[in-house]
Amino acid sequence: MNTTLITGASSGIGEAFARKLAARGHNLLLVARTEEKLVMLCSELGRIKSIRAQYVAMDLSEPDAPARLFEETLQRELQINFLINNAGFGSMGDFARLDLERELKMIDLNIRSLVELTHRFLQPMRERRSGRIINVASTAGFQAVPFMATYAATKAFVLSFSEALWEENRPYGIRVMALCPGVTETNFFEASRMQRPPARISQTAEEVVETALRALRRGKSSVISGWTNFFMVESERLVPRSLILRAAGAVLRSHTEKG
Ligand SMILES: NC(=O)c1ccc[n+]([C@@H]2O[C@H](COP(=O)([O-])OP(=O)(O)OC[C@H]3O[C@@H](n4cnc5c(N)ncnc54)[C@H](OP(=O)(O)O)[C@@H]3O)[C@@H](O)[C@H]2O)c1
Repeated sequence: MNTTLITGASSGIGEAFARKLAARGHNLLLVARTEEKLVMLCSELGRIKSIRAQYVAMDLSEPDAPARLFEETLQRELQINFLINNAGFGSMGDFARLDLERELKMIDLNIRSLVELTHRFLQPMRERRSGRIINVASTAGFQAVPFMATYAATKAFVLSFSEALWEENRPYGIRVMALCPGVTETNFFEASRMQRPPARISQTAEEVVETALRALRRGKSSVISGWTNFFMVESERLVPRSLILRAAGAVLRSHTEKG
């Protein structure tokens, strides 16, 4: 059965992807840690439209989780023709003082599990010569961000990795795209124990998903969601990197000290 797999589908951008794609008739496999939310979402989406919505509750930062998830799709005889690697979290503060275990867990979730899921699900897509993958990066992936050092670096990885795979997989009819949202109204800041960055225009998760699906249809390698975010990222390219670092550092230093 053709199925779309969405990680981090229990809230925010992942949930918005699930709702949008269910309305378009996709069968879904939703993954996150909070089983109650997945149960509710699957029963609601299964009722709205005649689609099959299933879930797997797991912590994707655990080393064997991506392999277990892949195995589960084989057991359930699901053909994953669309993979959305969306699960992720962040942290904010002076890196030297942040909890090291949590920083490493972030790398395990934001990078390690995303790479492994992409690799595993790409093989059958290659054989079928079709498939789609969206990896959720961030506008924070375009430059180093002092006081969000590990998070921004994980998203720089996701952006670079996805763009490279876009080109590698073009001859096979497989679309790979990095989605780069700016500040989005979700549970992210609370879950990441972060202060919301100051004075930034935010988008809804639905707006981000709309932009992502349009850009994927157009075959783009990456997309920045929101015009303000687009102009911010593009204008920063014209300014020396050290200046951007100092400016971002000044804003976020006082912001984290206040928090
Ligand atoms: N919100 C923003 O401003 C923003 C901006 C740029 C990029 N992003 C990116 O967008 C993506 C989605 O975030 P969001 O904004 O929608 O935040 P969110 O509402 O906190 O959603 C995060 C999702 O990831 C799941 N998750 C977290 N840790 C997990 C783990 N260890 N294993 C499995 N699932 C896990 C969460 O569910 P459980 O807690 O139930 O596991 C939840 O479903 C992230 O990659 C984030 O970095 C967000």
